[in-house]
Amino acid sequence: MTKRTVVIIGATGCQGGSVVTELLQYPEIYHIRALTRDSVKPAAQALAAREAIAAAFTGANIIYALTDFWQKQSITAEVKQGKDIADAAATTTTLQHLIWSALPDPVSLSEGQFLNVHHWKGKSLVTEYIQTNKPELWAKTTTVLFSNYFENCLTDPDRYLPTKDEAGYYNLMFPHSTKTLLPNVAIADTCKLVHIILQAGPTYFTKTIAFWAQALSEAEKLAELGEYYNVPTHYHPVSTSEFQKILMNRDGMSDEIAQDFTEQLMIFEKCGNVYERDEFVQAREIPGLTLQTWSEFIHQHKLLN
Ligand SMILES: NC(=O)c1ccc[n+]([C@@H]2O[C@H](COP(=O)([O-])OP(=O)(O)OC[C@H]3O[C@@H](n4cnc5c(N)ncnc54)[C@H](OP(=O)(O)O)[C@@H]3O)[C@@H](O)[C@H]2O)c1
Repeated sequence: MTKRTVVIIGATGCQGGSVVTELLQYPEIYHIRALTRDSVKPAAQALAAREAIAAAFTGANIIYALTDFWQKQSITAEVKQGKDIADAAATTTTLQHLIWSALPDPVSLSEGQFLNVHHWKGKSLVTEYIQTNKPELWAKTTTVLFSNYFENCLTDPDRYLPTKDEAGYYNLMFPHSTKTLLPNVAIADTCKLVHIILQAGPTYFTKTIAFWAQALSEAEKLAELGEYYNVPTHYHPVSTSEFQKILMNRDGMSDEIAQDFTEQLMIFEKCGNVYERDEFVQAREIPGLTLQTWSEFIHQHKLLN
C-alpha cells in the first residue's frame, strides 16, 4: 500500500498532538509531517506566510488544519490564517482530504442574538470561504466542530475547576442555570475521530461533524466531581456582567474577549444544545467511535487535591 502523507497544523497543541500520536501508530499507512510555528525562530515564523504554508503542504495527501484564535485574539488575524491555509491547500495537487477544525456560525445559529463571539465567527467565515470560493477543495473537506474540552480543567483550572472556601465547600461560577447543557468532549479523543474519518474515504467529504460526547451542565459536572472526591460543592449561576468581570479580573481578559467568551456560553443558555441540530453529523452516532465520558475523565485525572 502507498503511504499517505499527512500534514498536521497545530501538532504541538491539544487537537493536533492527539492526531499525531494516533497516526504514528500506523507507520505502514501514514507518513506524518507535523508543522510547528516556533515564534522564536525566524524560519518557522515564516509559516505565517502563504507561500511557506504552500511549501509545507507539498506532496500532502491529507491535511489536518486548525487556526488558533487565542494567540492574537483577533478575528481578522484568524480569518487570514484560515484563508491562507485554504488557499495553500487548494493548490496542493496531491491533496485527497482536508480535515478542517472549526466552530459554527454563532450569528446564524442564534438567529442574530449573539454578535460578538469572534472566536467562533472567524472559523465559520473560513468554512464559508472554502465552500464558496474553493469548491474543488470543499468537495474533499470534512469540517469538525469542536465542543468544550474536558481537558480545559487541566489547562485552565482557575476557570474550570471549583475553588475551596473556608467552610470546605468547592465553588464554581458560570453564567448558566443549573440545567443548561453544553456539549463536551475529551480532546484526547480527536485522534479516534480523525482515524475513523480517514478510514471512511469520501464518506464525510463536505460534511460537518459535531464532535461531542456528552451534553452536561457545569452544575452536573461539579456535582459528579464532588461525589467522586466526597466533598461538598456549590454551583453559583452568576449574571453575564458578573461573569465578564470575573474573566477580566481573574483571567486578565480584555472587555471585548470577556464578552466573546461569555456570549459563546450564553448561546447554549438561550438556544439549547445547538450542536445537536440535524444539519450536523453527530460524532456520537458514527459507527465504531467510542468517546470518553466525564465520569471516565474524572477517574483518569487528578482534578482536586
Ligand atoms: N478549549 C476548548 O474548549 C475549545 C473548544 C473548541 C474549539 N477550540 C479552538 O481550538 C483552537 C486551538 O486548538 P488546540 O486547543 O489544539 O490548541 P492549543 O493546545 O491551545 O495549542 C495551540 C496550537 O495552535 C498552533 N498555532 C498557534 N498559532 C498558529 C498559527 N498562526 N498558525 C498555525 N498554528 C498555530 C500552535 O502551534 P505552534 O505554537 O507549535 O506553532 C499550537 O499547536 C482555538 O482556535 C480554539 O478556539 C477550543
